[in-house]
Amino acid sequence: MMQEYLTHPIFHVLAEIAEENNIETYVIGGYVRDLLLHRPSQDIDIVVQGNGIALAEATAQKLGHLKVSVFKNFGTAMFRYKGTEIEFVGARKESYRSDSRKPLVEAGTIDDDQKRRDFTINALAISLNKKDYGRLVDPFKGLQHLQERLIKTPLEPGITFSDDPLRMMRAIRFATQLNFKIEENTFKAIRANKDRLTIISTERIMDEFNKIMLSPEPSRGIFLLEETGLLEMFFPELTALKGVEIIDGIGHKDNFYHTMAVLDTVALYSNDLWLRWAALLHDIAKPVTKKFIKGQGWTFYGHNHIGERMVAKIFNRLKLPQNEKMKYVQKLVNLHMRPIVLSEEIVTDSAVRRLLFDTGNDIDDLMTLAEADITSKNEEKVKRFLKNFKIVRRKLKEVEEKDSIRNFQPPISGEEIMETFHLSPCRLIGDIKNAIKEAILDGLGMKDAGYMPMRPLEDVVSLSVYWESVVGGNEFAITSKCKYPEKAIQFLDWCMS
Ligand code: CTP
Repeated sequence: MMQEYLTHPIFHVLAEIAEENNIETYVIGGYVRDLLLHRPSQDIDIVVQGNGIALAEATAQKLGHLKVSVFKNFGTAMFRYKGTEIEFVGARKESYRSDSRKPLVEAGTIDDDQKRRDFTINALAISLNKKDYGRLVDPFKGLQHLQERLIKTPLEPGITFSDDPLRMMRAIRFATQLNFKIEENTFKAIRANKDRLTIISTERIMDEFNKIMLSPEPSRGIFLLEETGLLEMFFPELTALKGVEIIDGIGHKDNFYHTMAVLDTVALYSNDLWLRWAALLHDIAKPVTKKFIKGQGWTFYGHNHIGERMVAKIFNRLKLPQNEKMKYVQKLVNLHMRPIVLSEEIVTDSAVRRLLFDTGNDIDDLMTLAEADITSKNEEKVKRFLKNFKIVRRKLKEVEEKDSIRNFQPPISGEEIMETFHLSPCRLIGDIKNAIKEAILDGLGMKDAGYMPMRPLEDVVSLSVYWESVVGGNEFAITSKCKYPEKAIQFLDWCMS
């Protein structure tokens, strides 16, 4: 008996009303599963043999005229009570059409309702009826499977999955979140039915995928997605990372396994979904940039830049946010090698300042990603990298304290340059902006020159004063970095005249 589990005050109220109205009522699904697993329980699902909407309305009335949302088409109703969403549905017998997720619904018994659920551990119900209040209704050995840590469908898995192919993603999601195994036949059925995923919307697939990403060890789920063939269906860029090619006896590492290792390491240090996404995609352009060069071995030139562009395409296709979250992932993918490169050289203030400038407030995340990226099997190499990383971290702190580069804003925007000097958009503007930035980051007397970060540029005078003070009249410092040095010199002359 499970009475002691039913601590939420709603259950007694429900039991009373069910008794008064003579309706069989059960709590079912994820709430029961989580109670038995001692996980924090989410929403409560109530299933009744009869009219779920009527029971919801009667209960809400009794609890003090709570507002009920009714979804007539689905025969469901819900309200919030003491911070929990309580959803009511009439027990259903369902059959699905093969071309769509929308079921044909008929009223059924609790047993019918349990049969049509996704997994045995999600089909558990507890009675709220007076005659057997607290009785666990477990027709499919859900409790045993919880103990065995097993994901198994209540019916023949082919039926359960073709009823709703999203359940294939859910099987892997639960296996990853709960650290459960997928029962063999259930697993085989996912493989056999993988093509049915095409009828599921990208948003729903990604909801499950992101739950996998947020699990303690996301690689477990991604490996399962790969083994079942589901990953290929919606994320071919990831499966393309698989494999090792060997030329002249030289192989490169398997970037799929490497990516999974990096993702899991990042997951140890951060629960941030988007940092985890940056880990997932940091080497995404390796397959398209891969080249074997004689005498040099395998190269992946520009994989960070191309990767940055691929992030935008992937986010767009997978209906992920197209906002600052995506930009953050792009930035980390682009910069992911910088701390390593930096740590391979003598760590100068100027190089650290540049890294801080380019990364801003995301520097700590970038360092977490870059450190996780060291997955070499060569222990000596790893030791050396980690030691150098310590130096980079220390320097970052020192430089940050001294120069507060982290929140550096370019002192002049391109628009300001164009507006102030009546220039139309051209490459020169970018070159000039860049030259100013370079001069500052090289440390051309930032503070001595009276440089004030974020000061708006109001007029020509302040620009030329600023210009002179920053570059100290060193035309070469500026022009040597420009694509069109003559134009830059003209511009400088103009500023300083
Ligand atoms: N369910 C199902 N098939 C689905 C989705 C849900 O059979 N495709 C059933 C399961 O019985 C599940 C219940 O509906 O337990 C509630 O679904 P949902 O709220 O999506 O998931 P939970 O199991 O509660 O888990 P979580 O809150 O982690 O999503």
